[in-house]
Amino acid sequence: MPPSTEPLRVERQVTIVEVGPRDGLQNEKHLVSTGLKLRLIRMLADCGFARIEATAFVSPKWVPQMADHDAVMRGAVRRAGLVLSALVPNEQGAQAAITAGAQELAVFTSASETFSRRNTNCTIEEGLARFVPVIALAAEHALPVRGYVSCAVDCPYEGPIEPGAAAKVVARLRDLGCAEIAVADTIGMATPERVHAMVLACLAEAEATQLAGHFHDTGGMALANVDAAWSLGLRVFDSAAGGLGGCPYAPGAAGNLRSGALVEHFASRGIATGIDSELLANVENMLADPVFLGKR
Ligand code: HMG
Ligand code: MG
Repeated sequence: MPPSTEPLRVERQVTIVEVGPRDGLQNEKHLVSTGLKLRLIRMLADCGFARIEATAFVSPKWVPQMADHDAVMRGAVRRAGLVLSALVPNEQGAQAAITAGAQELAVFTSASETFSRRNTNCTIEEGLARFVPVIALAAEHALPVRGYVSCAVDCPYEGPIEPGAAAKVVARLRDLGCAEIAVADTIGMATPERVHAMVLACLAEAEATQLAGHFHDTGGMALANVDAAWSLGLRVFDSAAGGLGGCPYAPGAAGNLRSGALVEHFASRGIATGIDSELLANVENMLADPVFLGKR
């Protein structure tokens, strides 16, 4: 089927970045087929998501589930008004992602030194240095770059993280040229008070319009954490259909905030997301069926 050229004309008072195909599926033990990934991305586009993190151009040795990144990015549905992004750790990943048609790149580092080493085999400084050619390459192709700060509240190895440590990394990513910086509660154990303190510290380094909230939901507080960040002016939040996910290098981290829950949460407050909640419910029902992800 040829890609639709119909622009997405929807009102949004908040932007939800659907990270399920990447942050959700990367943690699935069973290898999900490329065909199912492409079907999921198409269904998410039909729901009205304007930003979908489609895959990760990371080492297949580190994250086998993302080994088909090239086929996923090349095969993913294209729509006017839809931006497909790719997570990349280095220039090699950035080059491959751009060649495959990524429309946004996302680099990732951490406020915790130990997590940086476990997740990317390098220090925070070394990771930031790897982003310099990534951001230059993106600029050459006029693509925006998002930067993630993992473990902005807690680290699975170091425990609680000082708000100032997250803010310091936000400042570095800002200086490198990231258009948006997502502060992440990687293990999903943050509380609204601690998110408030972390975001407040980050706001000393970046405007609220430059920041996004990425909350996992291990402790069941992700929606309250969204509200804490919203109260400080953030208007971009990540979630994953079906609440899929976790990080293979963050033991104990459960799924991402479920997209359906986030959409309902905003709807109940009269805040427009531009997402069709009935279509999204169909996607989440499909993901809940173990047959879909090949678990049975
Ligand atoms: P390394 O082993 O130190 O790297 O890994 P290397 O440069 O020595 O390369 C080793 C091999 O990987 C080489 O292949 C490279 O070609 C290959 P070989 O010669 O052995 O056959 N390689 C690559 N292959 C494909 N794409 C690439 C790439 N780069 C090197 N881009 C590296 C360092 C960063 C590559 C590795 O540690 C890695 O890929 N880590 C990714 C880990 C990951 O994806 N974690 C999950 C995503 S982060 C996350 O979930 C958090 C987030 O959601 C926010 C939050 O919640 O906190 C974003
Ligand atoms: Mg994550």
